[in-house]
Amino acid sequence: MTEPKERMRLDEVGDWSELKLEILKKYAGAYTKILRGNKLHPIYIDGFAGAGEHISKRTQKSIAGSPRNALEIEPPFEEFHFVDLNPKRATNLQKLAGDKDNVYVYSGDSNALLISKIFPRIRYTEYKRALCLLDPYGLHLSWEVLKAAAESKTIEIFLNFPVMDMNMNVLWRRPENVTKENVARMNFSWGDDSWKNAAYKKQETLFGPEDEDGRDRRCRDRPQGHEPRCALPSRDHRSRAVREGHGRPFGARR
Ligand SMILES: C[S@@+](CC[C@H](N)C(=O)[O-])C[C@H]1O[C@@H](n2cnc3c(N)ncnc32)[C@H](O)[C@@H]1O
Repeated sequence: MTEPKERMRLDEVGDWSELKLEILKKYAGAYTKILRGNKLHPIYIDGFAGAGEHISKRTQKSIAGSPRNALEIEPPFEEFHFVDLNPKRATNLQKLAGDKDNVYVYSGDSNALLISKIFPRIRYTEYKRALCLLDPYGLHLSWEVLKAAAESKTIEIFLNFPVMDMNMNVLWRRPENVTKENVARMNFSWGDDSWKNAAYKKQETLFGPEDEDGRDRRCRDRPQGHEPRCALPSRDHRSRAVREGHGRPFGARR
């Protein structure tokens, strides 16, 4: 007797994902229409394609994922490239494609495949242009992919920015507590560590640079548990500023 095949797990998606799919469908339809109207060849690339279908949280029914939507866009794309790391999902994508010979399915890491195999096919001189959806769950997309797309001058990106992963694991109030692994993941997606300057804005105050959460350097340097004494701004500070000779009282600043 043959073993029953393990069933592929579909993602259950919320309203926000359904809305994203709807926006993308409308955009893709306009994209193919405009490109074809200009005698260009529209190509669709899905770097984090998923299984091609999901379960709606709201209705508990099966709904189309981004690859299935792309296959149904009118006027149609001329070529499709679907990538997913999960081999079962890639097999399902192949099933969706049926015997269409303009659909290419890849099972592997899109950070490598997009740069080495897929983007080089979108040649400017052959009037090819691509709409590339990058929809990772989290910080799984390399900055190098975005850079390669920009350099191609033929590939337009539709990026689902992984704000939740960033907020939950990296952009903490106390950056010193973020793990090395999470800093590395953020650098991988951002391209370098310049996100630190963007995320943690410093403002000059009478007492030196101030954190985004309103604490000055003397406050940050204190051992934990002693910070409240430094909260800024307060009437206390005004008198301290005068007492310590840091400058004029706040009301007198020019
Ligand atoms: C959010 S889902 C994609 C949903 C799909 N875009 C849609 O709207 O129907 C993200 C997918 O990326 C895949 N994935 C994760 N890391 C990957 C990688 N490095 N390369 C390719 N696929 C990856 C996961 O297996 C998952 O199926």
